[in-house]
Amino acid sequence: KNDHVLQPGALDRKVGVSRSQESKGLIDVQPVRGTRDFGPEEYRLRQWLFNEFEAVSRLFGFEQFETPVLESEDLFVRKAGEEITQQLYNFEDKGGRRVALRPELTPSLARLVLAQGGKLTLPAKWFSIGQCWRYERTTRGRKREHFQWNMDIIGVPGIAAEAELLAAIVLFLERVNLSSEDIVIKVSSRKVLQAILERYTVPEDSVGPVSVVVDKMEKIPLEKVEEELSALGLSPEASSGIIAATRVGSLAELEQLLGAGNEAVRELQQLFSLAQGYGYADYLQLDTSCVRGLAYYTGVVFEGRDRAGQLRAIFGGGRYDRLLSTFGGEQRPCAGFGFGDCVIVELLRDKGLLPSPAHEVDDLVVVMEEGLREHAAGIAQQLRKAGRRVDLVLESKKMKWIFKQAERCGAKRMVLVAPDEWKQGLVRVKDQATREESNVPVAELMNF
Ligand code: HAM
Repeated sequence: KNDHVLQPGALDRKVGVSRSQESKGLIDVQPVRGTRDFGPEEYRLRQWLFNEFEAVSRLFGFEQFETPVLESEDLFVRKAGEEITQQLYNFEDKGGRRVALRPELTPSLARLVLAQGGKLTLPAKWFSIGQCWRYERTTRGRKREHFQWNMDIIGVPGIAAEAELLAAIVLFLERVNLSSEDIVIKVSSRKVLQAILERYTVPEDSVGPVSVVVDKMEKIPLEKVEEELSALGLSPEASSGIIAATRVGSLAELEQLLGAGNEAVRELQQLFSLAQGYGYADYLQLDTSCVRGLAYYTGVVFEGRDRAGQLRAIFGGGRYDRLLSTFGGEQRPCAGFGFGDCVIVELLRDKGLLPSPAHEVDDLVVVMEEGLREHAAGIAQQLRKAGRRVDLVLESKKMKWIFKQAERCGAKRMVLVAPDEWKQGLVRVKDQATREESNVPVAELMNF
């Protein structure tokens, strides 16, 4: 008879629903591949993480913003061959508009900045935590939806912006008990590639597409990289110049390659000395093979990795001074980062640093006799008005169940509304930590 009803407990089931169950009309209780449900336990963990993201952003004086998950497809159409544009969740809506679920927040931020026009006071320091969608091959730490914490600074052309953003990331890492022994931040600059390309008189607007190819060096054979660079019009000499530049091991070597006056060298030197000042230099490592896969970066780029090298990138970002102008707006210097919610959780779990925040209320209010329910309801409401978190037991339950419930909801005290005490204007209060019980006048309950 109940074949068409979702059975209790079905949502807890880890296994998928079999064909025969489906034919009986039971829905598939698994979320769509690559997406996640956040039951209360997972939600508490996520909230803990987001609270840390938010707290750090506020400690740096950033303001929060939000844009819709659904955007015009145009916003994400770029021709540099980036993976992200091939992974787009895009479709036509019922009005015939081409729309997409955002794969990242940066184009939406750019749109919002453009929409504000002259009203916006610069520099603007903005942060956001939002869900992003990418049709990826799912692996550990990579899903088809993820949340990204972004901090971006709009209107500051100098390296001080990148240094401040990295300081925020490091503060976050330290708040969750990670250190430079766990995390390395690889740093480079798109201006390194730009300088090499200039040598071979390759036009500047090739830096984006070339970076997208170089970014694949870890994943595809070198010959394939060379082939793709040649398809972009690079001579074999330019190609080997680029590849050699990604193998530079130190700032001194980079200076030798590009010359002391080179902008990339100067900016990276500045970044390293600012990092000394902030006290996070031990996290940084110059790595010219880190170019990042997004075409819009124009200057410093960085990426966070676990030192053990077991996980995918934890966060990434950089300077993108021309994105606004590619959207037809006035050119504005911008820098920012995106920090996902998946890899960091994997890392914290591996290191035994993942908290398991518990469900928690202040009071569990229990009606000992149904005739007193309205009084108990009144007490619960008064306590809530006073700011206490109250779980009110809504049915008649045995004491054994109630004790269990007090534990389950993490109540700090139990407030029992019972006939004998009630007649004297009292309620029975049990402190869950000390196990002490006392009768308390109702009026005193709020400040007990
Ligand atoms: P991104 O490197 O593509 O950069 O992504 C940033 C971070 O988002 C990654 O390091 C990772 O933590 C997380 N992430 C990306 N894709 C996935 C996925 N499929 N599953 C789980 N996590 C993922 C950007 O998106 C830039 N818009 C960042 C930025 C902001 N640059 C400047 N401002």
